[in-house]
Amino acid sequence: MFNLFPRAFRPRYALLPSDNNSSQPARKFLIKRTIIFWTSAPTAFVVLYFLIFHQLGFWKLATPVDTEGDDWRDHPEPPLPPDYEDVYEFERKLPQHNLSLPFPEGATGRYFYSANHADTSGWNNVLQEYIFLAHLAHASQRSFVFDPYEWDPKAKGKWSHFGDKVVPARIPLNALVSGPMAGGSFKNGSTIPRAVNKAYFDEVCPHPTVIPGDVVPEAVGSTDGNFIMGKWVQQLLTMKDRCVRLDGSNSQIFPYYVFGMPCLIESWPWMSESPILKEYRWSPLVESAVVKNLHRIVPSTTDEAYPTGQIHFPYKPIQGLMAVHVRRGDYIDHCRYLARDSIGWQGWNTFPEYVDKFQVPPKDANGTVTPEAMENYIEHCFPNHEEILAKIASVRQTPEARGLRHIFVMTNAKADWATELKDKLMAQGDWGTVTTSRDMRLSWEQKFVAQAVDMLIGQRAQVFIGNGWSSLTSNTVLLRRSMKFPHRATRFW
Ligand SMILES: *[C@@H]1O[C@H](CO)[C@@H](O)[C@H](O)[C@H]1NC(C)=O
Ligand SMILES: *[C@@H]1O[C@H](CO)[C@@H](O)[C@H](O)[C@H]1NC(C)=O
Ligand SMILES: *[C@@H]1O[C@H](CO)[C@@H](O)[C@H](O)[C@H]1NC(C)=O
Repeated sequence: MFNLFPRAFRPRYALLPSDNNSSQPARKFLIKRTIIFWTSAPTAFVVLYFLIFHQLGFWKLATPVDTEGDDWRDHPEPPLPPDYEDVYEFERKLPQHNLSLPFPEGATGRYFYSANHADTSGWNNVLQEYIFLAHLAHASQRSFVFDPYEWDPKAKGKWSHFGDKVVPARIPLNALVSGPMAGGSFKNGSTIPRAVNKAYFDEVCPHPTVIPGDVVPEAVGSTDGNFIMGKWVQQLLTMKDRCVRLDGSNSQIFPYYVFGMPCLIESWPWMSESPILKEYRWSPLVESAVVKNLHRIVPSTTDEAYPTGQIHFPYKPIQGLMAVHVRRGDYIDHCRYLARDSIGWQGWNTFPEYVDKFQVPPKDANGTVTPEAMENYIEHCFPNHEEILAKIASVRQTPEARGLRHIFVMTNAKADWATELKDKLMAQGDWGTVTTSRDMRLSWEQKFVAQAVDMLIGQRAQVFIGNGWSSLTSNTVLLRRSMKFPHRATRFW
């Protein structure tokens, strides 16, 4: 087990990421500000100083002791984003990275690496595809080969930019996720090989068979995830080749739009039985962030944590808590685009048994979006304070909401907006506590996986209200469904 609280010198960089809920393809937001940043002489000096001392290992002497309340805002200037080196080391040392292991692992094992998966996207676009790819590997009795979560594959060094913030160019998968998808053992599964990292794949499979997506022509261009899965399991199961690398034309076999289709729910019968979902678990880094913040969110909690900072698994519901996902910031533009393109909710949000539904409103004769339709989209996609308060009040009247005392607002909203919402919720009455993502105390490493921390809370909350178009919401909904929450405890704006 890697160290939960890596002891690195983690002072605060002046430009910090605050959009912890960015979940849409974001290539266009990746504005390069490298030149402005690096031409600042004082900054360059400080960074150089940091790098020199880091190289010498000298920083260890200045290491602060981590506490329950360790928070990124407390760190002194400067720093670069965390490099998660201890997590990479943990991954390198996974026991399945061993050529001597017998079949189906080791030098004679079967492997599947999909080179062309999403990157430069929000974490949740990557996660939804990874769940499918990991399931495909499992169903084809092959070891799943995972990459880090890459924000900027072209970055030569460890860092990249999000707007004017310096962020890690990539984050190791095990900083976000544990369980079989990230190399953990299958509970039931001695016959299914465990997942491995890309470096080990290159070692055990120096000359993999490279196949393009076109080898399954029926699946090319299909928007039906269930259909694509069926065809590809057949393909990979029957291939004799030990090492398969999916690359080249049409090789992103589960593109993002597959997860926007209502027919996605036809995948539920096998998805609900897949150990990739049943044994899906967040990383120790994410779990420890929930442990250290839970008493702020639900002061009366009796939820015991292990001394390691990990949580009981399988996860239990957090009784008395309503979590709501409020996507703000640049999302207004995205909501307008959704309206113009008549886009409906993410697939996992469209199960017929969910109470809330969204009917795509008709366009006018010229095919343009009417003002009423636009209003309808904005109300559900970018609700204002009053709309949020009204929805929460009405959901609170339902039987599933019995015993609710606390609200957690998962949001990327600006501090003022979030504080105003908190005040209004408290004024609405009878809430023990109202907290938001902004109130979380997160270490420097946790700061960059904050979305996942929010998701683990939303996943476990007694009642959840989400944004139907958001992939963060839809992944949270999928995980709640796997926990067998009553369907009426999962709601949408
Ligand atoms: C690799 O696997 C073999 C066979 O199970 C075992 O004997 C050996 O100790 C393993 N090596 C390491 C470094 O774990
Ligand atoms: C393990 O296998 C048993 C029996 O096949 C099944 O009932 C159980 O749900 C499985 N557990 C998981 C976590 O998949
Ligand atoms: C459709 O477009 C025409 C020409 O641009 C315009 O005159 C008309 O008002 C439009 N109709 C609607 C329903 O918007």
